[in-house]
Amino acid sequence: MAPRKIIIDTDPGQDDAVAILLALASPEDVEVLGITAVAGNVPLRLTAKNALIVCELAGKPEIKVFAGCDAPLKRKLVTAEHVHGKTGLDGPQLPAPQTALQATHAVDFIIETLRNHPSGTVTLCSLGPLTNIATAFGRAPDIIGRVQEIVLMGGAYFEVGNITPTAEFNIYVDPEAAEIVFKSGAPLTVMPLDVTHKVLTTRPHIQVFRDMGTETGRMVAEWTDFFERFDKEKYGSDGAPLHDPCVIAWLLQPELFSGRKINVEIETGSELTLGMTVADWWGVTGRAPNALFIGDVDAEGFFALLTERISRLQPAQEEPR
Ligand code: RIB
Ligand code: CA
Repeated sequence: MAPRKIIIDTDPGQDDAVAILLALASPEDVEVLGITAVAGNVPLRLTAKNALIVCELAGKPEIKVFAGCDAPLKRKLVTAEHVHGKTGLDGPQLPAPQTALQATHAVDFIIETLRNHPSGTVTLCSLGPLTNIATAFGRAPDIIGRVQEIVLMGGAYFEVGNITPTAEFNIYVDPEAAEIVFKSGAPLTVMPLDVTHKVLTTRPHIQVFRDMGTETGRMVAEWTDFFERFDKEKYGSDGAPLHDPCVIAWLLQPELFSGRKINVEIETGSELTLGMTVADWWGVTGRAPNALFIGDVDAEGFFALLTERISRLQPAQEEPR
């Protein structure tokens, strides 16, 4: 079967970086048409730069990276340096990127790509706030029906919030954008905290990355070493949740996951619960299902897939050891 054509919309972020590496290590399964950066974990200037760095670390400097929206549709940007560090990729020392951003704006790239490919053949993988995708939908409503699937990391139900008591970060940063996407009618597969909190980078998992003996493996180990502090402190968990790689793993081995087709609406009115994904898991509202909401994962199978794929990568200039 031909690899799925995807656009990765992202706010790197260490977990975004691992997700991008997983996609770039899997050319038999996914063809990355481009990477679109959005403001989120850190400001746009850094998320765009970080996306370039990750592509070079994967030995794929030819991947096109586009800068997108630098602020949410209607709100002031909230960032997460307390989780990801000042650069967004804190942990290892990283070289400055050698490649440049594309001149085209990310929103224009999303619109043009969906218009230029046959309808139903391009998947959007959203790893950050939904600002770029919502802006594209608002500017070009004709592309909504052309999207094959939107697979997004965001929201929570049983796990409740990670940035407020009720909201997950990606949705909280731009709830109006999330509302546009969840109401768009585009096929949605949602990876909420309910599932991402089940794929934790425990010590043995991090050691596997370190033992790969590649620069890429070492980077992944140091990124996860760094960004697990927040979750360990808050949840007392045994490692960092690999939120965003769940989006790519869904495309590679969907059988690892299970969930329910349910109605999900976004709180945009109440400051108390702003950005909450009101997930009708028990079907009590009678509202039409609009999303496949993933609740469970085979964590060991996920890590087996992730480590096998990441072990394939090393930066272009590094000779195999
Ligand atoms: O809440 C987790 C999400 O917020 C992840 O995508 C992480 O990278 C941050 O963007
Ligand atoms: Ca992210």
